[in-house]
Amino acid sequence: MSIYSELKEKLKEIIKKSGYEEESINLEPSNRRDLGEYQLNDAMQLAKKYHKSPREIADNIIKELEKDESFIDINIAGPGFINFSLSNEYIYSILNKMNESVFNNIYKLEKKKILIDYGGANVAKALHVGHLRSANIGEALKRLANALGYEAIGDAHLGDYGRPLGFVITEIEKMYPNLPYFDENYTGNYEDIELPISNHDLETIYPTASQKAKDDPEYLERGRQITAKIQNGERGYYDLWKKIVDISKEDISNTYNLLNVQFEIWNGESDEMEYFEELKSIYEEKGLLKDSEGAKIIELADSDDKAPMPPLLFIKSNNTASYETTDLATILERSKTTKPEEVWYVVDGRQTLHFDQVFRAAKKGGISDNMKLEHIGFGTMNGKDGKPFKTRDGGVLSLKELINIVYQETYKKITNESIKEEEKETIAKQVAIATIKYADLLPFRGTDYIFEVEKFSDLEGKTGPYLLYSTIRMKSLLKKANYQKSSITKLKGATEKEIALVLLNLPLVLNKSIDTRSLNDICEYLYKITSLYNKFYSENRILTEEDQELKDSWLNLTNIVYTLNNTLLNILGITVPDKM
Ligand code: ARG
Repeated sequence: MSIYSELKEKLKEIIKKSGYEEESINLEPSNRRDLGEYQLNDAMQLAKKYHKSPREIADNIIKELEKDESFIDINIAGPGFINFSLSNEYIYSILNKMNESVFNNIYKLEKKKILIDYGGANVAKALHVGHLRSANIGEALKRLANALGYEAIGDAHLGDYGRPLGFVITEIEKMYPNLPYFDENYTGNYEDIELPISNHDLETIYPTASQKAKDDPEYLERGRQITAKIQNGERGYYDLWKKIVDISKEDISNTYNLLNVQFEIWNGESDEMEYFEELKSIYEEKGLLKDSEGAKIIELADSDDKAPMPPLLFIKSNNTASYETTDLATILERSKTTKPEEVWYVVDGRQTLHFDQVFRAAKKGGISDNMKLEHIGFGTMNGKDGKPFKTRDGGVLSLKELINIVYQETYKKITNESIKEEEKETIAKQVAIATIKYADLLPFRGTDYIFEVEKFSDLEGKTGPYLLYSTIRMKSLLKKANYQKSSITKLKGATEKEIALVLLNLPLVLNKSIDTRSLNDICEYLYKITSLYNKFYSENRILTEEDQELKDSWLNLTNIVYTLNNTLLNILGITVPDKM
């Protein structure tokens, strides 16, 4: 139970003593702080239940509240809102519990297995900024879910199926026609072949191929044929495809590592398509597959639909499976292997229709009966023109380029002279990742935001660098003071009390975050607690304080905020460097 829930339990007991029963307590941090720190709204509810005036009920509750030394400044506002504040002793006890472990003030949810699908990187294509938001939000939701007691696992769900890969192989065939992969008479082993292609080359091969396919119908046709060859597992083509996937996978996983993103499952769409035949017969047996101009479709429209719902294209007229079908095959696979209770798809909000179709079709086919499927969409990261962020020449910005832009900026801003040149790069990289992640998670996930590198990397304001810098300063204060954990027994200023109350309200923030599937509240909270702490820091001379009891209490308070910041930053996927 969180400390906040303990407070609610305590209030429930008090209400009971005053003669009323209330199932769940209606307690809120007050927004009228002149009246009190908390507001208890239960008298209204109880009035209905007990057919009495709220005022009378509030009066009776207050009598009991006053007997408890934890509560001070008790008063009734309006028709029966009870306001109160917390006594210093009660505040100290809360803080000491949090200093034991910040997890003492986290409300644990009932265990549930959740699979989070938040990779979606496409093999042989560079990771771009769209994948960044999936990675950031998905990883943070996974860490948050686990911290709150769920069992959350991540699936990279690599895009290794379909035409893009076919085009890449088409282009390689044009570049190196003599490779044994393309020689029908080759009987040797493909493993030993040295491929003259690196991941770096792959970054240009796909854009070239895709342009050629647009300009040249013959090239397009070859691309289609090769895609079919790969999907049919044809010797040579299939083997080359596998090799390209491996090269690309390594690079993708390196980039994810740089972002502190780790997946438990590394399935690709092509692995999922092993369930295709089974999937097809399920839909066939239920009579759900309809012929339509050489393709097979599943009708999805419902009579009470408010918006048109197009049918799902199950098999295209060229006999290949669609993106929707890969997701259906994945649902079938997950229902048989990982068996999660919920699947969260952290994918661009522009794919809403895709998921609506997939979820509906899954329901019709009965393949998602034991799983709750949820699309957690997000807005785009835009340039100053308000359109999705692009490179100078209008292309899609790769994730590596983006990280590099931010890195150049954070590198410039490291002016601490005690940092050696060798360390500087590592630190600037960590700061760059923190900069990107915090800026990305700060707005509600559904909203678009504008990428502003100078603003995001500023040492002041709601930024990753501000949080890192402040947290590092807390750590160095503790180190200088030779901090040993003890108890908080004395505090003096209003700021300290404010910090304590913000700490107490932690579970409200975490629960809201998990409910809304968005990290914005945690980001705001981190900023709030950190700036309050910095205010306290500038108001006092902690290290030279002569009152030892006060100094110790302050250091313990520092330790709580420091530990909490580390914990929350870690949930966001942000690493705190040793110095900066
Ligand atoms: N590879 C896809 C893309 O780049 C994203 C995949 C998202 N996940 C899913 N299960 N459909 O658009």
